[in-house]
Amino acid sequence: MPAIPVVLDVDTGVDDACALLLAALHPGLDLRAVTCVGGNAPLADVVRNTLTVLETAGRGDVPVGVGAARPLLEDPVDARHVHGSDGMADLGMAPPTLVPDARSALDLLRDTIEAAAEAGESLTVVPLAPMTNLALLARVHPAAFSRIGRIVFMGGGVEISNATAAAEFNVFHDPEATAMVLDACAEHEVPVTMYGLDVFYEPLVTDVQVAALLEVDTPVARLAAGLISFHHRRFANAGATIGDAGAVGILLEPDAVRTERLPVRVELTGTWTRGRTVVDRRDWSGHLAHDPHGLAPAMVDVALEVDGPRIADLWVRTVGGQV
Ligand code: RIB
Ligand code: CA
Repeated sequence: MPAIPVVLDVDTGVDDACALLLAALHPGLDLRAVTCVGGNAPLADVVRNTLTVLETAGRGDVPVGVGAARPLLEDPVDARHVHGSDGMADLGMAPPTLVPDARSALDLLRDTIEAAAEAGESLTVVPLAPMTNLALLARVHPAAFSRIGRIVFMGGGVEISNATAAAEFNVFHDPEATAMVLDACAEHEVPVTMYGLDVFYEPLVTDVQVAALLEVDTPVARLAAGLISFHHRRFANAGATIGDAGAVGILLEPDAVRTERLPVRVELTGTWTRGRTVVDRRDWSGHLAHDPHGLAPAMVDVALEVDGPRIADLWVRTVGGQV
């Protein structure tokens, strides 16, 4: 099988770093570019963390584009209480020698999408952060957006939330952006998969696996172990999720996830529900025919179940140099 061309849009963060390692190192993926957005941490920290991970992985060839520092409307609110004061587990790593690409995230996305399309390739864009960059791409470069092969985004949830009682962080951080991206996917018929919190917490890496990675003792394995150990300590449990990395993992192991194609909307005005992904699981045509709202335009492949241990093992083997 040829390697899958991918672009990651990140707010590096601990689990974004896990996702970057998998995308940068697994031979089944062809990481073409990475774009950064403010989210887990302020944009400057996100860019620095992203460059640090790529440098550690020996992937200085991958261009990194600097994108939006804040959401379209919402004030920026970070998640450093989850990811550490530097946004990436406070590992005290040396600053990167790599620098971002001269192009903005939007221009880098446009160029990368167009180049793949011209070569007859289907490029998968993997947003793992608030979707501000992708929303702006849809407005500034709609022709390029229409040439995306597939979007697999980490965000939202059917039954589970984290940022509020109703919403998941990436969507809550920029609800308008998520709504715009889903609308653009419907408009341009770009297939879209939602890897939400209902599966996000399933791929867990244990402290035993961390110990094995420390035995491997390479820069990548040490970074991977440090990321997971940080979350073991912060959440006081023996298994930490690789989070965003799961959305990358299902590209490599598509039969490890069960999805259903469902209408999805984003709540933008609810006092307590703003940022909720409203996933419509009704199946009786009578209800649908009498619904004053009508079906959501966006039909999304929503991940409902995942083989967590299988995806976690894929990640551990990759960062451990066994793939
Ligand atoms: O809700 C989890 C998501 O928010 C993950 O992408 C995490 O990195 C943060 O961005
Ligand atoms: Ca993220």
